[in-house]
Amino acid sequence: MKAIVTSSFFLLLLSLASCTQKNKIYVVYFGEHSGDKALDEIEKTHYSYLSSVKATEEGAKASLLYSYKHSINGFAALLSKEEVSKLQEMKEVISVFKSQPKGYSLHTTRSWEFVGLREPLNPFRKESKGDLLSKAKYGEDVIVGMIDNGVWPESQSFSDKGMEPVPKRWKGICQAGTNFNSSNCNKKIIGARYYFKGYEYVYGPIDEKEDYKSARDKDGHGTHTASIVAGRAVAGASAVGGFANGTASGGAPLARLAIYKACWPFKGQSKDLGNTCIDIDMLAAIDDAIHDGVDILSISIGYSNPIPYKDDMIARGALHATKNNIVVVCSAGNKGPAPKTLSNVAPWILTVAASTVDRSFHAPIVLDNGGIIDGQSITPVHMENKLHRLVYAGHVEHSGNFEQNSGYCLPDTLNPDKVEGKIVLCIRGQGGRLQKSLEVKRAGGVGAIIGNNKTNGADVPCDAHLFPATGVLYQDSLKLLRYITSKKNPMAHILPGKTVLYTKPAPSMASFSSRGPNIVDPSILKPDITAPGVNILAAWTETDGPTRMSSIDFRVVKYNIFSGTSMSCPHVSAAAALLKAIHPTWSSAAIRSALMTTAGTINNMGKPLTDENGSPATPFAYGSGHFDPQKAADPGLVYDASYNDYLVYTCSIGVTKDLNVSFNCPNSPPEPVNLNYPSIQIHMLNDTKTVQRIVTNVGSSNSVYTFSAKPPQGFSIKASPNVLNFDSVGQKKRFNVTVRARRAQVPTKYDPEQYYFGWFAWSNGIQHVRSPVAVSWG
Ligand SMILES: *[C@@H]1O[C@H](CO)[C@@H](O)[C@H](O)[C@H]1NC(C)=O
Ligand SMILES: *[C@@H]1O[C@H](CO)[C@@H](O)[C@H](O)[C@H]1NC(C)=O
Ligand SMILES: *[C@@H]1O[C@H](CO)[C@@H](O)[C@H](O)[C@H]1NC(C)=O
Ligand SMILES: *[C@@H]1O[C@H](CO)[C@@H](O)[C@H](O)[C@H]1NC(C)=O
Ligand SMILES: *[C@@H]1O[C@H](CO)[C@@H](O)[C@H](O)[C@H]1NC(C)=O
Ligand SMILES: *[C@@H]1O[C@H](CO)[C@@H](O)[C@H](O)[C@H]1NC(C)=O
Repeated sequence: MKAIVTSSFFLLLLSLASCTQKNKIYVVYFGEHSGDKALDEIEKTHYSYLSSVKATEEGAKASLLYSYKHSINGFAALLSKEEVSKLQEMKEVISVFKSQPKGYSLHTTRSWEFVGLREPLNPFRKESKGDLLSKAKYGEDVIVGMIDNGVWPESQSFSDKGMEPVPKRWKGICQAGTNFNSSNCNKKIIGARYYFKGYEYVYGPIDEKEDYKSARDKDGHGTHTASIVAGRAVAGASAVGGFANGTASGGAPLARLAIYKACWPFKGQSKDLGNTCIDIDMLAAIDDAIHDGVDILSISIGYSNPIPYKDDMIARGALHATKNNIVVVCSAGNKGPAPKTLSNVAPWILTVAASTVDRSFHAPIVLDNGGIIDGQSITPVHMENKLHRLVYAGHVEHSGNFEQNSGYCLPDTLNPDKVEGKIVLCIRGQGGRLQKSLEVKRAGGVGAIIGNNKTNGADVPCDAHLFPATGVLYQDSLKLLRYITSKKNPMAHILPGKTVLYTKPAPSMASFSSRGPNIVDPSILKPDITAPGVNILAAWTETDGPTRMSSIDFRVVKYNIFSGTSMSCPHVSAAAALLKAIHPTWSSAAIRSALMTTAGTINNMGKPLTDENGSPATPFAYGSGHFDPQKAADPGLVYDASYNDYLVYTCSIGVTKDLNVSFNCPNSPPEPVNLNYPSIQIHMLNDTKTVQRIVTNVGSSNSVYTFSAKPPQGFSIKASPNVLNFDSVGQKKRFNVTVRARRAQVPTKYDPEQYYFGWFAWSNGIQHVRSPVAVSWG
């Protein structure tokens, strides 16, 4: 440690500086712990570093927010710029980085808008007939850590009836707090903790009217995601209005849950802005989860934009988790369908996109000419069963201080004289959908049609409105508008919503699901996989209404329908838990590989997966495809990778220093594309590229796999060797994949961001170990 500066002049300057200049939160990072140090000793060491740059002992005490003592070695503290540079100079300090002022968000699709709502008609549950589940003992020996915004422990989904005692290896606690004490944990919810120091520093004290200062969930998101992973089977569950009725169950119904609450209500002008998660709180949660002994970490949280690994506390925390062989499953984000919108792209994370299931909720509109327009809704209130006058909002606005003829049904824009007793067509945009139907109600209307605008395209949200309402496609908005303008007295009726099963095509990609390419590292193809994330039924808190708009929706529900990559992520966490139960010795990379190489790309019409607008989707939407846990349990071969491989990868892309300086990078590290990943992406290829891979046999001991490929347009793919002979389980075989650009086919319009897609596979006749390939011209 450097000598402590004792000049009083200097100290005076320092304290003056910190009076005028607000300190910021930094994480002082020492990498990993060496040897077995007692926890209080580690904290003391952290204090001594902090004290050496702070004027006083009290100053040090007051500024320390977290001491990360378990897997992560470091602390979070309030520091001035000068203090940061002093710490940076100390040789034990690997790096000092600033906490991101912008919090992470929960990956649901509601911001101003909220997207609707359905239970997982999970392909694997239909097929499995208890096979995979019983082999995995329903996940009973597996512990899944949920980093989220808490849990509603009284939900029937978290009953521990008939469960075996908590696994002995569990080291977690049940932390008491507001409306939450040790009796809220049981053999299902085996641990609960909460983290708010970063949040309170940024937003001030938690407003106890808005949230519980404990692991209890007020908002619904954390309860929903936890029950998707490990909710018990609850018969007769349904959303408000009886939609999606049936048995609600998590994917691993006997798995144990450990709750880490690190997200709290966003404070802003509106109460309905959702939650935010501050990075140092998340890091503390991950550090504890690793120590407590979770097997899987399910994180339905991310930044809204891609950020480098070094600035991303989820990526950092997940790397530590991977060292402990924890499978870290994260949501890909809800910023689609625009390209380059992915978050959580580190290769040690399993990144999950969202797609539909084969169920929808129809609330069609009947016109007086007998025409029917399809509508989507899970609104439990219905209109009188007769025809009503139909008007377009843009025609019935009163004059006011707003742009007229907007058609948006914004608050106080509709003229009651012209709306009384009518159905109003409102256009999406500028405000929440729930508020739009409430504006029609305020103006005396009888029903609302929420029409997609051009940019919404084919993504019709299903909402539980507080007033008769349904949602329609953009082309149907136009159809309705034409009907309204072409008829003197257009009439219509919105039928009550119905749950419709076996809808086609399914799965199809959710348009909100974030898309590649991965701009943090163009040699890693992301997302990895897709799973159900549209209209998922799962458990809910009993304090926040089904729409999460706490300021206007006071309904109490036990189950609710919700959408987002937040919902698809826990589906894959559950699948990972079942695989972990069946293959307890597999690495986290092997589990990911099994899920990816067995994923499907064909929908229930026997056609390739589509985007929600019906056009073919690409691996930048779905990665390797739709997850298939049943197949993943027996993948034949896996692409394994160790913690050390990930560190070598960090050398390849030059970020090792930021993550763990004492790792000795090889002099010429392999190219990042050679990380043993179950997919391949090559950025800017103009000639040939040889990519190295290793597969491990996890199937039958004697097996022969042959290579096949569908090369991306304009490229060829070959493997060497192209036959792999295995004679034992656990045997590893190396092979090279050579991708060659066919110069004759170079596109006239050259664009390095334009990728072409294909795949290659190893097959023994039974198992097909498939990897997507994405290549762009260089
Ligand atoms: C960095 O990683 C290596 C390799 O796992 C480990 O042995 C070492 O202890 C780590 N160094 C520090 C300072 O944490
Ligand atoms: C936990 O809280 C409940 C409800 O307030 C109470 O009945 C119970 O006795 C408490 N249990 C413990 C262990 O404090
Ligand atoms: C849902 O409810 C409807 C109407 O009561 C019933 O016909 C249907 O069988 C139920 N579906 C399931 C999956 O229970
Ligand atoms: C269409 O609706 C979306 C919200 O769903 C909004 O962001 C967008 O601005 C709207 N576009 C127009 C042209 O109003
Ligand atoms: C391929 O790319 C390399 C590096 O960008 C460049 O030097 C070379 O001229 C290119 N070759 C062809 C045939 O375009
Ligand atoms: C793969 O290619 C590398 C580099 O070109 C070479 O060293 C290695 O022997 C090849 N491996 C196989 C299995 O062909």
